[in-house]
Amino acid sequence: MTEERDRMERLDKILANTGRWSRKEARELIRAGRVTVDGAVARAHDGKYDTAARFQVDGQPISGDPMVYIMLHKPAGLVSATEDPRQPTVLTLLPEHLRRVGLFPAGRLDKDTEGLLLLTNDGPLAHRLLSPRRHVDKTYFVRVDGALDGADAAAFAAGMTLGDGLVCMPAGLELLERPDEAVVTLREGKYHQIKRMLAARGKPVVYLKRLTMGSLSLDPGLARGAWRYLTPEELAELRSGGADG
Ligand code: URA
Repeated sequence: MTEERDRMERLDKILANTGRWSRKEARELIRAGRVTVDGAVARAHDGKYDTAARFQVDGQPISGDPMVYIMLHKPAGLVSATEDPRQPTVLTLLPEHLRRVGLFPAGRLDKDTEGLLLLTNDGPLAHRLLSPRRHVDKTYFVRVDGALDGADAAAFAAGMTLGDGLVCMPAGLELLERPDEAVVTLREGKYHQIKRMLAARGKPVVYLKRLTMGSLSLDPGLARGAWRYLTPEELAELRSGGADG
């Protein structure tokens, strides 16, 4: 009983916690009769409900779980941070109400790097995705100034130790048709890692884009700067991925 009372929350707050609507928008949805709780239309926005109940908006299931998961196609020019005194952050791409739910980027990208960025307020999941022990691969499309070859791929596979002392885990470098392009696979994410590894090979990076993180792939339908919520399937796969070891 106490446990259930702890999970009780106002309906407008439950909807707003999903990050999809502001409190005001949630109240409008409720007033319009578009929200059901355990199959019954709910009309009072200040009514309290168990967050484990079955919520639907326009017939679509909504989780009472206050966690939010967003896939963003990061453009160059924004920093992967929640706030920065001088530069615009990736959060400026989101609507106002989503900037108040504690989202942070799970795995930073450099300011000039593009591609897949997961924004969430689920700290434990982000930690699992980023921990090198979990073997969650991240892949990147890279273009360099120079021509990549088998010796570069072999150096990546062996695990490089850079002149500045950075010790890198074995990584993948798949050569593509154009000699200046490749797909790099990393299991860790040290500061400027790919740029430093390729600079050490004498082939500086001129363009970098993250393609995947574990089971999650950048949606080809998302233009630069666009975002969407993860689908329930994407989230389930992310949650189940990444073995210890
Ligand atoms: N490696 C880099 O050098 N930069 C990134 O943004 C990601 C990986």
